[in-house]
Amino acid sequence: MFRGYHCMEYILENFILFLSCLTVFINCMLPVPLRINSFHVPTPAVTGDSILLRCAYELGNETLYAVKWYKNAGEFFRYVPASDPPLKMFPQNGIDVDMSKSDQNNIYLRNLSLESHGNYTCQVSTDRPFFRCVQTTRQLEVVVPPSDGPVLMEEKSYYEVGDNVSILCNSGKSKPAPELKWYINDQLAQSDLYDKETVVYPDQLESSSLALRFRLKPDVLHNGRVILKCVATLKHIHAVTIKEIRAAASKDASPFTLSLFLIAATFLMRRLTRD
Ligand SMILES: *[C@@H]1O[C@H](CO)[C@@H](O)[C@H](O)[C@H]1NC(C)=O
Ligand SMILES: *[C@@H]1O[C@H](CO)[C@@H](O)[C@H](O)[C@H]1NC(C)=O
Ligand SMILES: *[C@@H]1O[C@H](CO)[C@@H](O)[C@H](O)[C@H]1NC(C)=O
Ligand SMILES: *[C@@H]1O[C@H](CO)[C@@H](O)[C@H](O)[C@H]1NC(C)=O
Repeated sequence: MFRGYHCMEYILENFILFLSCLTVFINCMLPVPLRINSFHVPTPAVTGDSILLRCAYELGNETLYAVKWYKNAGEFFRYVPASDPPLKMFPQNGIDVDMSKSDQNNIYLRNLSLESHGNYTCQVSTDRPFFRCVQTTRQLEVVVPPSDGPVLMEEKSYYEVGDNVSILCNSGKSKPAPELKWYINDQLAQSDLYDKETVVYPDQLESSSLALRFRLKPDVLHNGRVILKCVATLKHIHAVTIKEIRAAASKDASPFTLSLFLIAATFLMRRLTRD
């Protein structure tokens, strides 16, 4: 999209002012300060979260006409100090503004949904005589963390040396689908042992599955066991799930008979520091 689109709209709305604006530009007389110093969008965010978007600007000695907020092409909030009331909001899907916590710099968005995902623009325009306009756009990514940790599905529960191990790791539903990785004895399994698939559900959520296949050779076994982990990571948010399978030599059977024990399932979810 043309970067200055919303600004152009403003300028067209004030066509004569556009000319004066142009004159000012040609004359290069402007003391520069009108600018957006920072535009903070805490991305990625999680559905259901409430977040504060902050647009900090400098007017120099110009007078503020309006601060307008857009999601993609649609305006959803406006601050015009000369209007009564100065704050106004326009309904839009995925936008739930808490007016009591919003002002000329801040927008408090409640209860994010997948529809809140998009490009947010803060546009600051000044009144006469300059009628200038600056804006900045940032993308807000909204994700749904996985509902559950990965589930492992084994073809069989007893293995012998030389057997082919075949285990499927299915992630919980999320958006986007988590990235899955297999570790064999804490070492990332090579991708030629993988078989990957992503499923998209009608509710927009996704899940991934990763099948691990390898030959159970003696060198993979440490004290008669092999530790397999399936780790699910959702970009940025890092919903990490770890499952561990231990294959141990069974005492009462031949030394080559191994049994698999499911020993641990942990679900860790950690939000990384956001910028
Ligand atoms: C803004 O300030 C500059 C000096 O910093 C001055 O030259 C200019 O005339 C001022 N403009 C207005 C509209 O007051
Ligand atoms: C949050 O939004 C969802 C739909 O996106 C809605 O079903 C739910 O009632 C909302 N919760 C609150 C507290 O507004
Ligand atoms: C948001 O902007 C990015 C790049 O600037 C673009 O790829 C993406 O399609 C935009 N999203 C929407 C919903 O317009
Ligand atoms: C394991 O798989 C290989 C092919 O990948 C096959 O040649 C071999 O017979 C299989 N071994 C067993 C015990 O099924």
